[in-house]
Amino acid sequence: MKILYKLDNINLNYNVNGNDIRVLKNINFEIKKNERVAIIGESGSGKTSLLMLMSGLENPSTGSIIFQNIDFAEVSEEEKTAIRKKKIGLIFQQFYLIPNYTALENVMFPMQINNIKNEKKKASLILSDIGLDHRKNNLPSELSGGEQQRVAIARAISFNPDIILADEPTGNLDRTNTERVSNLLLDYSKTKKISLVLVTHNINLAKKCDRLIHLFDGKIKK
Ligand SMILES: Nc1ncnc2c1ncn2[C@@H]1O[C@H](COP(=O)(O)OP(=O)(O)O)[C@@H](O)[C@H]1O
Ligand SMILES: [Mg+2]
Repeated sequence: MKILYKLDNINLNYNVNGNDIRVLKNINFEIKKNERVAIIGESGSGKTSLLMLMSGLENPSTGSIIFQNIDFAEVSEEEKTAIRKKKIGLIFQQFYLIPNYTALENVMFPMQINNIKNEKKKASLILSDIGLDHRKNNLPSELSGGEQQRVAIARAISFNPDIILADEPTGNLDRTNTERVSNLLLDYSKTKKISLVLVTHNINLAKKCDRLIHLFDGKIKK
């Protein structure tokens, strides 16, 4: 099976007031095409940092990140941005919705930059699937945290990326919506063959993935 990601001996250190903080230590793993991987671990164990590296928004101190045979260390920031726009669906904890775009326009946006046709209809359908039919024309500021989170999820799915990197995508949702959104993410991932890396505290959701990576104090726990 094709390898989508290869993380080779990754270390991430931050220097704070002259002290080195080792955030990620000797991380090695691969993600295959059409594979769903859950990342679990206590708060502060390095989960978000790992997703930042995988999205190319942050660089490791040592080690390499190879995405579809491209070494992130060998391409420019512009190239990494282009790769993200086309191939990586990101769901961050802060959502980063466009404030002056409606929910529908936020979901349409990545389809527009990828020249995907019928983007309005497709965005509408995903928003209905995710239970936001009645909020399509609202701005992010008019939505609750949970609703904004669902818009961010719809946006990440919308343009058929090769992989979705999701940081606690059900963190702000109640039980009903957690169930609904996690099933939707897993279903989309399977039917559209989109790989999924899912940071979650929800052990039931983690178990529905093909594989689990447990981070403990910046290391992979065996
Ligand atoms: N920019 C930064 N500067 C210094 N330390 C950081 C920075 N970003 C994250 N850290 C530290 O790295 C560790 C892991 O953080 P994070 O990846 O957010 O963990 P998690 O998502 O598992 O809660 C924490 O101890 C955090 O304080
Ligand atoms: Mg985090």
